[in-house]
Amino acid sequence: MNLLRQHAEQQFAEELHELKKNETNPVPENWEMSPQSVVTYLMGGTLKNGFEVSPKYIGNRRLMEIAVATLVTDRALLLYGLPGTAKSWVSEHIAAAVSGDSTLIVQGTAGIGEEAIRYGWNYARLLAEGPSEGALVQTPVMKAMQEGKIARIEELTRIGSDVQDTLITILSEKTLPIPELNKEVQAIRGFNVIATANNRDKGVNDLSSALKRRFNTVILPLPDSIEEETDIVRRRVESFEKVMSLPSERPALEEIRRVVTIFRELRQGVTCDGKSKLKSPSGTLSTAEAISVVNNGLAMAGYFGDGVIHAEDLVSGILGAVIKDPVQDKVVWQEYMETVVKKRDGWKDIYRASIDFI
Ligand SMILES: Nc1ncnc2c1ncn2[C@@H]1O[C@H](COP(=O)(O)OP(=O)(O)OP(=O)(O)O)[C@@H](O)[C@H]1O
Ligand SMILES: [Mg+2]
Repeated sequence: MNLLRQHAEQQFAEELHELKKNETNPVPENWEMSPQSVVTYLMGGTLKNGFEVSPKYIGNRRLMEIAVATLVTDRALLLYGLPGTAKSWVSEHIAAAVSGDSTLIVQGTAGIGEEAIRYGWNYARLLAEGPSEGALVQTPVMKAMQEGKIARIEELTRIGSDVQDTLITILSEKTLPIPELNKEVQAIRGFNVIATANNRDKGVNDLSSALKRRFNTVILPLPDSIEEETDIVRRRVESFEKVMSLPSERPALEEIRRVVTIFRELRQGVTCDGKSKLKSPSGTLSTAEAISVVNNGLAMAGYFGDGVIHAEDLVSGILGAVIKDPVQDKVVWQEYMETVVKKRDGWKDIYRASIDFI
């Protein structure tokens, strides 16, 4: 079947298989592989038999070691950071490597209630039979407890505080009481929780200190250097290219570098050479957005251009990412165009494309 998007454990089935085959370290109970192998899966590397594992996370290895080590303790893992810093991506890959299953996921929203985390009822059966095992609707968290797997909770801080706190019993007692049936579900080994939360939503529903204490927080940073960020965008774009089969050529590294440069300069409020101060636009301009801009450019070039990515294919996407507020951000952009881009060698095409577009 031609799935639009495969789960990590489907897409990287071969890598996971090879990692398990080449395992030399002790494997925690109900884990698919050792913590060391999980980190190799995340960071990439060469196995004993010469098999190449591709890197999934590009950045500080130590952060991944801390994240994975947390999961063998009795604390849960909270991945925290700005939007687009690969929190969901890392959470999916860790769950795939540790449990072979990244699908036990609860999407946090302001609207979800306790029943999305604990359990719900099939009302037709509840009315017909009364509370019974058959009328109970299991949640991903409950399944993870029963099967000794990783449950994922996305955007934890968007969930109302009272609902968040249902996690306290689950994380400290490792049980989920079901008073209606006069029983409880006790988690088996291998169970743990990876939650993600976004800096920008801070204060929406900040975690209670009781809950905070049950999590180890790992902060995922923005990429350190322009090289690192360019590399992330290039890799992600290449993998999208395969799936989307666009009729365009692989983008030149230089074009990706230009997009990343623009994003970094505007985000940091200073040019890469450190010489001119800039105003920052209101949006986040994360790596994730740079990836979308290049993907968009590829589609434009493939279908409405000559198949090779040029400035005009990129500029519409860049503007979409930069100008979130039609008045203020537009001024920021125009200033950047006039003071930086116009004067930069080899960047005139971007300046012109932007003038045409705005
Ligand atoms: N350091 C990185 N290494 C590898 N990929 C990265 C990195 N930073 C960002 N990405 C890519 O950025 C994209 C977006 O990441 P993701 O959706 O996980 O962000 P997020 O932190 O969950 O954001 P949000 O807070 O908006 O949910 C992914 O495709 C991911 O591959
Ligand atoms: Mg996310």
